[in-house]
Amino acid sequence: MSKKIMDCIDAGSDYCPCYLAETGDCIVCSLIRGDKFCNCNWTGTCIYNEYMWNGEKAKNLRGEYICKLINKESLDEYTKILTIKIPQKAYNSRFKDIREPGSYVFIRNIKDNSSFNVPMSVMHVDSSKNTIEIAYRIVGIKTKAIDKIQNNLILTGPFSNAILGIKNIKKLYQGTTLFLVRGISQAPSVLLAQRLIEKNNRIVIGVDNGIVKQIFMKKYLDDKDVAFFHLDYDNYDKSISPILNKIEKLNLIFIGGSNSFKEKMKNIIERYNLDVPILYTNNNKICCGEGICGACIVEDDKGNKIRTCKANTKGGDFVD
Ligand SMILES: Cc1cc2nc3c(=O)[nH]c(=O)nc-3n(C[C@H](O)[C@H](O)[C@H](O)COP(=O)(O)OP(=O)(O)OC[C@H]3O[C@@H](n4cnc5c(N)ncnc54)[C@H](O)[C@@H]3O)c2cc1C
Ligand code: FES
Repeated sequence: MSKKIMDCIDAGSDYCPCYLAETGDCIVCSLIRGDKFCNCNWTGTCIYNEYMWNGEKAKNLRGEYICKLINKESLDEYTKILTIKIPQKAYNSRFKDIREPGSYVFIRNIKDNSSFNVPMSVMHVDSSKNTIEIAYRIVGIKTKAIDKIQNNLILTGPFSNAILGIKNIKKLYQGTTLFLVRGISQAPSVLLAQRLIEKNNRIVIGVDNGIVKQIFMKKYLDDKDVAFFHLDYDNYDKSISPILNKIEKLNLIFIGGSNSFKEKMKNIIERYNLDVPILYTNNNKICCGEGICGACIVEDDKGNKIRTCKANTKGGDFVD
């Protein structure tokens, strides 16, 4: 069985090879899928070799950890920020990549079963205290249940594909990145902005607060590296065009928001014929994060089924 060559966010990680290798469905390795020849795009680790050395078995799935809720801040009735302490031993052994942009975890109340697991982006990490912060908006059953967490919670993770196209940031230094963000998508924006700043990039961030009503991401970023501007919901074009005309050395655009917001932003940007990668928040439904349940599958224009909890493409879009 031959398949389009895909990049996998977990390739070469502590969680590779995963269960998809055991079933012959690895999204990267053609040999594991039963082809006679290797046609992977080598990322430094031979998944086939790893699989053989591991006795043709998958490595362990992500673990579940009992974590302590140490702070809860209410931004408004429906928007909260949680500070969660991860046990030291687990943090040291399993959470070394938690500051990578696009990190997310599943959380649920300790009283609930795994059906209540809800994917939440990691917004901020304090490695000296093993704490992470997440921002959530109460929208339905699972997030209402999260709002009832008092002391302890179950956290599963860490996972990595909350931002599609994230591998594009590897070579970006000393340029300017444009963020176009709406509402709660400020949460995944923070780790991405922090990483780009570490690489001496300047960030220009257009925010439409949406129903969240405030720019809570500001607190985590230093003013000297970041310029904010208001994205006017009634006239996005008028807000963005003068900024795009002014930016020098634009190297990347990040769009964080719903699919309809993403489409509106894409329509505006496309008119400028910019040759820069565009990254997006992963807005698909993610239930296991391990490539197994199939909830996150989208089909590309050729009908290939793509597991968006695992797959990462050069740009952030799967259907190019
Ligand atoms: C990688 C990732 C990171 C996310 N990060 C954040 C975050 O930082 N802050 C935040 O507030 N929200 C975040 N979300 C969205 C959050 O997971 C959903 O709002 C939540 O699952 C809704 O569940 P519910 O039962 O409260 O609402 P429901 O009533 O079940 O659904 C409300 C909406 O959320 C969508 N949704 C339901 N379940 C899921 C799911 N498992 N995955 C994705 N969407 C779902 C539904 O399609 C619907 O549009 C993230 C989602 C993903 C996939
Ligand atoms: S979320 Fe289960 S397969 Fe992707």
